Amino acid sequence: MSEPHDAPSLKDVLLGVADAFAGASTVACIIAGHRAGFYSAMAHGNPMTSGELANAAATNERMTREWLDQQAAAQLITYDESTYSYVLPGAVAAVLADPGSPFWLAGGLVAVQALFLDLDRGIEAMKSDGAFGWGEHHPYLFEGTQEIFRPAYDHQLVQHWLPQRSQGTADLEAGITVADMGCGTGYSTLTLARAFPNSTFIGFDLHQPSIDQARQHAAEAGLTNVSFELTAADAISGPFDLICFFDCLHDMGDPVGIARHAINQLSTDGSIIVVEPFAMPTRTENHYLRATPRYAMSLFCCVPCSLSQPGARGMGNQAGESGMRAVFAEAGLDNFTRIAETPNHIVYEAQP
Ligand SMILES: C[S@@+](CC[C@H](N)C(=O)[O-])C[C@H]1O[C@@H](n2cnc3c(N)ncnc32)[C@H](O)[C@@H]1O
Repeated sequence: MSEPHDAPSLKDVLLGVADAFAGASTVACIIAGHRAGFYSAMAHGNPMTSGELANAAATNERMTREWLDQQAAAQLITYDESTYSYVLPGAVAAVLADPGSPFWLAGGLVAVQALFLDLDRGIEAMKSDGAFGWGEHHPYLFEGTQEIFRPAYDHQLVQHWLPQRSQGTADLEAGITVADMGCGTGYSTLTLARAFPNSTFIGFDLHQPSIDQARQHAAEAGLTNVSFELTAADAISGPFDLICFFDCLHDMGDPVGIARHAINQLSTDGSIIVVEPFAMPTRTENHYLRATPRYAMSLFCCVPCSLSQPGARGMGNQAGESGMRAVFAEAGLDNFTRIAETPNHIVYEAQP
């Protein structure tokens, strides 16, 4: 049997799988540190012994020390042998200790915990028709998803993405009616409602626990220009001046039918915003390390969610610009423009 010329060596394979083992183990320890409050207790950046951290976080000292050494081995925490003390560097705090940081990742890693908790069910779906509905997952998926996307809504959506629309944000500032499809726990909807008090926002999702949480978040925020409805995307009733799909159109069974329905619910001059996970233009280019978490989420969450719904297109979150452009072309709309991108997202505008 001949090997392709770019086949990895045995050493490369061993090192690659060992790195994946190290990464998965470190993710478990990061989630533990996040839950135990270790990162927030060390966020001041001053040296702490394991005893001081255990006191601050009310945890067992011996286990706390083992956690600190794991994190030091992972190069996330520094250790001073002369004082037996550990320091959380500022850059690590920005990623793992501060939920308000644009670089916050600790909360999003909870979605990986859900992948493992749901793995048997995912494999069962793989061996049958592939259907595994969003609402069947462990609640950590909903918490993790919210935290994966929230930093982008807090720091990108209003500041950088919406100004790239052909109308900019003038219509939102003046006052329009906006639908946020597949809104999940509602952070995108709340971010918009807070930024544009003259506009009215309705978040739609078919997952009751997420809608319940979104309503609770809105009440806590004291926002009166936002509401949430338990409604499937193909059943919303307009007219809407702006319809948004934030990280959800690819999860739907019939994205073409839903795009067509959305187009029909637009007011005159209405438009659609689609935010999708980043993907490279071609499948081959997309086979790189940074795409592996996106494919894993797609495999166990996005594709099976779509396969559980009528249409069962199973687009996946890595279909990229060509995949999403094809959806809108099939729905009868060719005016589809990429207006922004970050390392994690691509933003499109669709206009009839
Ligand atoms: C990956 S989550 C994204 C949630 C939210 N937009 C965000 O950015 O955090 C996908 C969401 O789409 C919702 N969803 C999937 N299919 C749907 C459908 N046909 N109609 C309405 N919502 C749907 C799911 O319930 C889930 O809340």
